[in-house]
Amino acid sequence: MAHMQPDALRKCSDPPPGPPPGLPVRKVFRSDPEAAGKVRRFVREQLAKEEPALTCEQVDNLCLIASELATNAIRYGTEPGDSFAVVVLPTPDEVRIEVWDPVRRLPRLRNDSDERARGRGLHIVDRLAARWNATERPFGKAVWAEVAR
Ligand SMILES: Nc1ncnc2c1ncn2[C@@H]1O[C@H](COP(=O)(O)OP(=O)(O)O)[C@@H](O)[C@H]1O
Ligand SMILES: [Mg+2]
Repeated sequence: MAHMQPDALRKCSDPPPGPPPGLPVRKVFRSDPEAAGKVRRFVREQLAKEEPALTCEQVDNLCLIASELATNAIRYGTEPGDSFAVVVLPTPDEVRIEVWDPVRRLPRLRNDSDERARGRGLHIVDRLAARWNATERPFGKAVWAEVAR
């Protein structure tokens, strides 16, 4: 037995060791008025656990981005009770937030002449993110944004 690796000794019933740092983590949320707050908490906890080198400003920016994208998924990308998903995805040079919803219509930056109280969310994302976009997925789309490390 001495030649066996520790992993080989792990019993099937043991809890999995958890993802090594650097893997994307995905969580599904039910679309309701409390979901944006839950998304913010999820992203903050995830970054605290997996990304200790980020500055407070980077963490705040990622949480604000996640909040805006989740608010849009709740408002435009789902019906109440539908699900949407949030992914925190580390890459060597950025941390990426993705919000997946089941509506195929893509978001669009509203220009200044549109109603003033509306249309700020994606401008905030545009200012804080190094890059953002929306990508079609088999059942809807993912809206994503990256903050540089
Ligand atoms: N997840 C989404 N699905 C479909 N359309 C979206 C989505 N997110 C944003 N949009 C569209 O992009 C516009 C701009 O979004 P945003 O800047 O966040 O402004 P607001 O949420 O205040 O309308 C929205 O008014 C909407 O038409
Ligand atoms: Mg918005």
